[in-house]
Amino acid sequence: MSSAKSAAPTSGTPYGTLPSASPMPQRKPVSLPRLQEMRERGEKITMLTAYDATFAAVADAAGVECILVGDSLGMVCQGLSSTAGVTLETMRYHTESVVRGLQRVQATAWVLGDLPFGSYHESKEQALRSAAVLMHAGAHMVKLEGGGWTAETVRFLVERGIPVCAHLGLTPQTVHALGGYRVQGRGDAAGLQLKRHALELQDAGAAMLVLEMVPAALSLEITHQLKTCHTIGIGAGKGTAGQVLVMHDMLGINLGKNPKFVRNFMEGQASVREAMAAYVAAVKDGSFPDDALHAW
Ligand code: KIV
Repeated sequence: MSSAKSAAPTSGTPYGTLPSASPMPQRKPVSLPRLQEMRERGEKITMLTAYDATFAAVADAAGVECILVGDSLGMVCQGLSSTAGVTLETMRYHTESVVRGLQRVQATAWVLGDLPFGSYHESKEQALRSAAVLMHAGAHMVKLEGGGWTAETVRFLVERGIPVCAHLGLTPQTVHALGGYRVQGRGDAAGLQLKRHALELQDAGAAMLVLEMVPAALSLEITHQLKTCHTIGIGAGKGTAGQVLVMHDMLGINLGKNPKFVRNFMEGQASVREAMAAYVAAVKDGSFPDDALHAW
């Protein structure tokens, strides 16, 4: 299957090579209707995290459709031991940086801003205020973690015109409550609860759902049951509508040990852009993720 986006040319700048700022008439901005179309024709959606202007522009030029300014930046940029310490102000700063970089090269990517821990837990009104900060910074969509209680918050945001991506399975902001970075949704009861939460979130209007570290069979089932909410997997097998990876992981520059479901796309590539393009190609042709790398 071919990519919805075609890679842009690059041009030198005093600070290195950035994707060209010349207009790319054949590239249309990624939007919710375009993502729905991709889903309907069976084309996989690609997502990568980025936290600054340059990497975001390179990811866009490599053909990545969705850029997640993830709160994983707490771990990969700030050196924190979990994402729980990331603040809304930090997310605003990085979202703005990513959006400026994308605007500079007339990029087409869809940008998700991650609502950090504590910025949407108090009330729906608090969630709206926090989401507005990221939307003012240029995000097209916000992401929040958890199921059950979050459905009401998702509905509140969606009704007010804010596209929302939900996040189930391993939710890193609550890693301490989960007892570590463990697979979620194993066993009948846990699987049923995850499926119920996914349906509730779709019903509340979530247009995307990240499924992190859940059994491949379960994420496939959830993907089939959701029609207007696109599942984006990370360590969740190949059955989801799209895939996401933390950029540092897929470039093989993780400070710790890479999760076993991650592939180092830098291997055999001459540049970051080529590595990202290889990721896009592998997701589109179904060769990533490799289900053999999932013991769950
Ligand atoms: O913060 C993040 O990067 C994420 C991804 C792991 C999906 O939530």
